[in-house]
Amino acid sequence: MDIIETINKRRSIRSFKPDPVPQDVLRKIVEAALRSPSASNSQPWEIAVAGGTKLAAIKQACLENAKNKPCLDVPIPWKYPEPWSSRQAAVMAGILEKLGIAREDKQKRFEFGLEAHRLWGAPSCIYIMIERSFYLADGTTNVWNLFDCGLITQNILLLATSYGLGSIPAIQTVFYPDIIRKILDIPDSKLIILGIPIGYIDSGNSVNQLQTSREKLEKVARFYE
Ligand SMILES: Cc1cc2nc3c(=O)[nH]c(=O)nc-3n(C[C@H](O)[C@H](O)[C@H](O)COP(=O)(O)O)c2cc1C
Repeated sequence: MDIIETINKRRSIRSFKPDPVPQDVLRKIVEAALRSPSASNSQPWEIAVAGGTKLAAIKQACLENAKNKPCLDVPIPWKYPEPWSSRQAAVMAGILEKLGIAREDKQKRFEFGLEAHRLWGAPSCIYIMIERSFYLADGTTNVWNLFDCGLITQNILLLATSYGLGSIPAIQTVFYPDIIRKILDIPDSKLIILGIPIGYIDSGNSVNQLQTSREKLEKVARFYE
C-alpha cells in the first residue's frame, strides 16, 4: 500500500473483533514507528503494549471507575470554542447516526460511552508515555514532547492500516492513568498520554463506516509564490 492510499484508508475504528493480533506484528509496528522524528532526536516516547489478562484487567477496572471524573495526566479542555466545537459535534453526530442512536437517547449514548472503557473490543492497546521530569524540565512545560508523541502516534496508526489492522487514538482510554500504571506496574514518573486500541476491524458494525469530513484545502492552507 503506498503512503497516500494508507493515509486515505486510515480511519478511527470503534468496533473491533476479539481475535488477538500476533505479537510479532505488534512488535514490527512499534519498531518501525520508532523511526519517527523528534525534537533533537530526544525520542521522549515510551511505549507499553498491553493485551491478554493485563488489558482485560484494565478494561474491567476502568469500567468500574467509569462514574468517576476523568483524571488525565495531560488535561484537555472539556468545552471547545468555535469553530472547533462544531467539528467535535459533527463527529459525535456522525457516530450516533451510524449506530442508529437518537441524540436524545441518553441511556443508549451512555452505554456506547462505556464501550470506550472496553476499548471498543480491541484485543490490544498501545499506550504512549513520557517521563514527567523531561516534560517539566528547565522550569517549562515541554510541549514538544507531546508534539513528538503525535508523530509516533500517527506512524503507529498508518502502520496498523498497512498491516490490515484497525486502530483509534483515544484520550478516553487514558481517563484513569493510575489504573493503567498500577496494573502494568508503570512508575508514577511516567505520564500516560494516549492509548491506541488496535485489532482487526469489525466490518459488520456500521460505526466503522464513518468517514469524517475535513475542511477544504483553500480554507486552511495558503500557498505563496
Ligand atoms: C489525540 C486524539 C485523541 C482522540 N481521542 C478520542 C477519544 O477519546 N474517543 C474517540 O472516540 N475518538 C478519539 N479520537 C479520534 C478522533 O475523533 C478522530 O481522529 C477524528 O474524529 C477524525 O476521524 P478519523 O480518525 O476517522 O479520520 C482522538 C483522536 C486524537 C488525534
